[in-house]
Amino acid sequence: MAKNAVVMEGIFYEINGIKILEDINLTIKENDFLAIIGPNGGGKSTLLKIIMGLLKPQKGTVKVFGHLPHESLHKIGYLPQITHFETDFPINVFETVLMGRYHGPLHNYSKDDEKSVLKSLQNVNMLDYKEQQIGELSGGQLQRVLIARALTREPQILLLDEPTASIDPQMQKNFYELLSKLRNEMAVVMVSHDIGVVSSYVETIACLNRRLFSHGPVETAKKGLEEAYKCPIDLIAHGIPHRVLREH
Ligand SMILES: Nc1ncnc2c1ncn2[C@@H]1O[C@H](COP(=O)(O)OP(=O)(O)OP(=O)(O)O)[C@@H](O)[C@H]1O
Ligand SMILES: [Mg+2]
Repeated sequence: MAKNAVVMEGIFYEINGIKILEDINLTIKENDFLAIIGPNGGGKSTLLKIIMGLLKPQKGTVKVFGHLPHESLHKIGYLPQITHFETDFPINVFETVLMGRYHGPLHNYSKDDEKSVLKSLQNVNMLDYKEQQIGELSGGQLQRVLIARALTREPQILLLDEPTASIDPQMQKNFYELLSKLRNEMAVVMVSHDIGVVSSYVETIACLNRRLFSHGPVETAKKGLEEAYKCPIDLIAHGIPHRVLREH
């Protein structure tokens, strides 16, 4: 039987008395490929930070592979949502990804670390750029490098916050194909405000707008999405990622 990667029970989270998350119950299995979709401010990034133990809920419990979040941090690969990323310092692509293999202050990087970095860069089609300064990359290229950095940790669960935000359609397709390969080795969770990212590769969808509205196979998620967004949505019919919002 598949193991539980993440179990959240009765999570409540608020900031300054404002409810951000209410009564979240969510189980993610070790090989799930889950998309969490919801409007801006719905609490998606917050939820990921709670899974990693960066934020502590006022109520409820979180277990990651049966342990407290901070005890399982080494099993988690994370792509933060990029709002602003300072690239104005001298570090190249290879070195940026190598940071994902950081073992602590007294440990040097090994040949295995270097091999893993090259493999991760290959996975996101950025190997040719390994010597390039990160300040010289486009937004989408930078995002791919940061995905490589998350992958190089060889995580058991990969958390991706708006991973396709600045990636072009061709690269998105490659990216989804990569994720569907990776899910044999790890649980993959991606969050996005853009229902267009939901593709045939995603297995289950949860809809988050302070509350979690549904968590199930793509076909049954439509109702939950409409509740979360408070407007009618035409969701994926034939596996081609697209976004259609009827007049509302
Ligand atoms: N440090 C903070 N202080 C006050 N409010 C915060 C803080 N961080 C987040 N919030 C609020 O919590 C709510 C949820 O934010 P969160 O970033 O989780 O949303 P999101 O679903 O990821 O949105 P987006 O689609 O825009 O990325 C928002 O209303 C936001 O304003
Ligand atoms: Mg967010």
